[in-house]
Amino acid sequence: MIKNYLKSQSKDITQLLSLTLGKNHAWLLANDDYQLNEAQTQTLNTLIKKREQGVPFAYLSGTKGFYHLDFKVTPDTLIPRPETELLIDITLDLFSNKTKPYHLLDLGTGSGIIAITLADKNPHWHITATDFSQKALAVAKQNAAITDNEVNFQQGSWFEAVSKQTFDLIISNPPYIEQDSSYLKNLTHEPKTALTSGKDGLDAIRLIINNAPEHLNKQGYLLLEHGFNQQQEITQLLEKYFSNIQIFNDYNSNQRAILAQFKP
Ligand SMILES: C[S@@+](CC[C@H](N)C(=O)[O-])C[C@H]1O[C@@H](n2cnc3c(N)ncnc32)[C@H](O)[C@@H]1O
Repeated sequence: MIKNYLKSQSKDITQLLSLTLGKNHAWLLANDDYQLNEAQTQTLNTLIKKREQGVPFAYLSGTKGFYHLDFKVTPDTLIPRPETELLIDITLDLFSNKTKPYHLLDLGTGSGIIAITLADKNPHWHITATDFSQKALAVAKQNAAITDNEVNFQQGSWFEAVSKQTFDLIISNPPYIEQDSSYLKNLTHEPKTALTSGKDGLDAIRLIINNAPEHLNKQGYLLLEHGFNQQQEITQLLEKYFSNIQIFNDYNSNQRAILAQFKP
């Protein structure tokens, strides 16, 4: 019976019951004497086991909400994080002229959350999204069906995917965790290539900052998500080619995003 499962201490049991039965929390509470049939019991027990082995809930449900949309996620893509929504807010604030056809680039798009959310928010923008992972791009392309507005997907390593193209804003939530970080032991189910970037975590960010000028229009912007302890080093890297550097905090008051304007 549902009530016996709800009383159990199994991790995320309410969400797992909802997923198994296709019913919401209120329905579960109102029908807590419902007896699961054999197939439902088997499905639920498998989900409970996987969740207890540490498989993230989003990989069990196959979806994750981000900003105003729901995205498909698979073990080939990073699970969208709420702090990445900061990049969307910053972009929406940055371009106050809502009808200008700005060109935006999302480098390392993963499940496509940044590019697709922005495309859905403004049909006037021309949005390109890249990743070096074919499998991630395949998921992103499926996700693009949730908006009527177009996203142009390109495969390749960082700027190799967009050679000779220039943009008004380059956005990236690149991998930025130190390769030996103890934090990684909690993230064993997500693709390592989406998480780590060299000894100090800054390999991808260095490459993006150093190559962005070639791909930015005059007065164009670079917007990066980064680790809570990386802001000072990133500011130093940016100062060579960029001005108007602005730092942004996430909802936990950690510095997690940086915006800079190209000074040609
Ligand atoms: C932190 S994840 C971000 C994914 C997505 N933008 C998000 O915010 O959820 C970093 C992404 O960068 C991609 N990536 C890693 N190395 C790359 C490279 N050399 N070139 C292009 N993309 C790369 C990964 O495949 C992954 O999708």
